[in-house]
Amino acid sequence: MFDDRVLSGMRPTGALHLGHYHGVLKNWIKLQHEHHCLYFVADWHALTTHYDTPEIIEDNVWDMLIDWLAAGVDPAQATLFIQSRVREHAELHLLMSMITPLGWLERVPTYKDQQEKLSEKDLSTYGFLGYPLLQSADILIYRANLVPVGDDQVPHIEFTREIARRFNHVFGRDPGFEEKAESAIKKLGAKRGKLYRELRTRYQEQGDDEALESARALLEEAANLSMGDRERLFGYLEGGGKMILSEPQALLTEASRMPGLDGHKMSKSYNNTITLREDSASVNQKIRTMPTDPARVRRTDPGDPEKCPVWQFHLVYTDDKTQKWAEQGCKSAGIGCIECKQPVIEAIQKELAPINERAQAYLDDPTLVRNIIADGNDRARKIAKETMRDVRESMGLDYS
Ligand code: TRP
Ligand code: SF4
Repeated sequence: MFDDRVLSGMRPTGALHLGHYHGVLKNWIKLQHEHHCLYFVADWHALTTHYDTPEIIEDNVWDMLIDWLAAGVDPAQATLFIQSRVREHAELHLLMSMITPLGWLERVPTYKDQQEKLSEKDLSTYGFLGYPLLQSADILIYRANLVPVGDDQVPHIEFTREIARRFNHVFGRDPGFEEKAESAIKKLGAKRGKLYRELRTRYQEQGDDEALESARALLEEAANLSMGDRERLFGYLEGGGKMILSEPQALLTEASRMPGLDGHKMSKSYNNTITLREDSASVNQKIRTMPTDPARVRRTDPGDPEKCPVWQFHLVYTDDKTQKWAEQGCKSAGIGCIECKQPVIEAIQKELAPINERAQAYLDDPTLVRNIIADGNDRARKIAKETMRDVRESMGLDYS
């Protein structure tokens, strides 16, 4: 559906690598053709864990944006922006904090996990506890309905849904809401109005999710409804309240099959990456020194591709014919490991050549990225401001 609004963000933590490319960026690039997409640099989120080295964030922000653009994220199709440049995120975060139970934040699994994992840092801060709430603000302020993330982020999306629901419940009741909803139902026409009521009753009395879905579809299709009436009727389905913030869904990104050079997950902290801007010589050097099946001590020892990380690279990078050649050659000791690695080296070099070329253009002229972001910040801010107007109004903060 073109009405879908997709939002995702990445913390600026250093040069992106092939794991990011195959796991995240290719998906973003695909989605930008299908939906209205907003992609942003979560620099405030970086600060929650790197508050002691804020000076590294700036370079990482611009480098990461160059990586996105070089990989093929297209600013003519997607809106690219920087979180800290749309200050409305902070206001929404603050306002939502008023109704966020501490227990909800403490129970988010990443809270304790990350504190344990990054035990060398003091993460017993208010900012770090609030990480998922800031993420909720990022999502809800754009009324995004789809959020492409890896499975580690699913609890954060679930948390966001709960916060949206709670917010609507607490602040979504404007006086005279029932009457307004009733008169909006009349605008649906007799037949559809009746159906809407039936579906609403079925959902509210029996918790029938299908009825809820059908009623939502009915509202989507009702072309004559104003924006306000439609939202009112969406809210009326689920309770008394008007829907101010809408619940997003996680769009689960398939786990990348791309391992690191040592066969473990590709990650900067394992020092097993190939970055998006690795040059040809370095790709060659890194793959050539990659470990292989330890059974192949001598050239004449047969091996087993299943025990070799290079084979995983073949599965991502080479065609069936090459894979057969490698598999047979390995098992029969018909080829050497260096020979086996050659098609992988060439495929990665070929993949990275145009990325490097595009990156170079952005490195040569830093104003290009600055302009793209200035434009994206403006577009994002415009949407964020609209949501904030509704939020302030619903909370009674629109006095002057
Ligand atoms: N927490 C996300 C991560 O570490 C980054 C992020 C921040 C994000 N805000 C977001 C992702 C909003 C999706 C939507 O990957
Ligand atoms: Fe790995 Fe290829 Fe060597 Fe077999 S021949 S061990 S698959 S690099």
